[in-house]
Amino acid sequence: MELPGGVVVWAIARHDTLQELLADPRVGKNPQLWTAFTEGRLPEGWPLLNFVTVPGMITVDGEDHRRLRGLVTQAFTPRRVAELRPAVESRTRALLDDLAGLEGPFDLREHFAYPLPMQVIGELLGLPPKQQDELHELSDTLVSSSATPAAAIAAQRGLQALLASVVEAKRAEPGDDLTTDLIAARESGDRLSEQELVGTLLLMLVAGHETTLNLITNAVRALLSHPEQLRLVLDGEQPWSAVVEETLRYDSPVGQFPLRYATEDIPVGDVVIRRGEALLASYASAGRDAAHYPDADRFDITRQPNRHLSLGHGPHFCLGSGLARMEAETALRYLFDRFPGIALAEGPAPEPIGSFISNSVRTLRVTV
Ligand code: HEM
Repeated sequence: MELPGGVVVWAIARHDTLQELLADPRVGKNPQLWTAFTEGRLPEGWPLLNFVTVPGMITVDGEDHRRLRGLVTQAFTPRRVAELRPAVESRTRALLDDLAGLEGPFDLREHFAYPLPMQVIGELLGLPPKQQDELHELSDTLVSSSATPAAAIAAQRGLQALLASVVEAKRAEPGDDLTTDLIAARESGDRLSEQELVGTLLLMLVAGHETTLNLITNAVRALLSHPEQLRLVLDGEQPWSAVVEETLRYDSPVGQFPLRYATEDIPVGDVVIRRGEALLASYASAGRDAAHYPDADRFDITRQPNRHLSLGHGPHFCLGSGLARMEAETALRYLFDRFPGIALAEGPAPEPIGSFISNSVRTLRVTV
């Protein structure tokens, strides 16, 4: 398929093929493996270039990947995620209190689905609350495919500058957060370069909130448009986790994830992906693959088994999956408990967000 800017890649849209290629040792994530990149054939100011070259665990393989991923995994173990639950619950309750005060229809995405994961990842990373909205706007531009090349580059620089200033502030005054831990790791040896430190924070910030924001939005939208499914949870016949898993499959919060590269010729069905060519993981399409899921276009929280790929697969499997699932389940449970009369507001269907990576709607107007 052709990406914005006319760059041609292989979109891997079938579930089984995607599952195989995500775990295939002949496929890597380092852009140095991509011939179009190393030969300088990408268009000037290509908007996705920043994303596919950001220094961090998503653009490296093997030992480098283990080193960078290993520095943050301890913050996301099941025990650490369980410890975060009370804080997530109290933030959820506080946000719902604010919603109760809003008059008429409002945008649930802006007032609930966004601030919850942003506050959680902000606290984990030790980001100043006052800068969180600015960080979100820059991060939105970074994952947007409609941003002009100049805007995408400015957003990347702006994010890096802001995060570098957070690192400086934490160096001067360490806190109980992941940024402080990463600074300590950097200073205790050659485990992390300064660029990788800022790149890792950038990745954690973007991955830690844009995705969960979409998951909560997409789940509420699906439930409100399928009242019989919502009924199953409210009657206790299905757990909230079933809603989360089915939303991940049905309306994958990460639509597509750029990019991977073939390190040798790889035959796939009737075609051969040549060494040095790029692959795009098309998670949203894989979730609707009729060859893998019976009645794939139906939102059905009783679906069994439901082993989707929407949190990735293989060595780059989502590091924050436990946190994302816990946040989304908490958000949904508390939201429907607090506002049993919640409904979609009347009006035209919401527009999709203009992003190549992120998959959701721009707004989700509801009444409570
Ligand atoms: C609904 C929420 C989420 C979804 C759908 C999601 C999805 C994904 C997917 C599909 C990947 C694999 C990307 C690829 O290589 O193709 C991934 C990787 C990753 N995710 Fe998530 N994610 C979510 C939440 C989070 C959260 C909350 C965090 C952190 C706090 C996080 C951190 C990461 C990181 C660091 C990686 C890169 C792992 C690596 O390259 O080794 N994600 N995520």
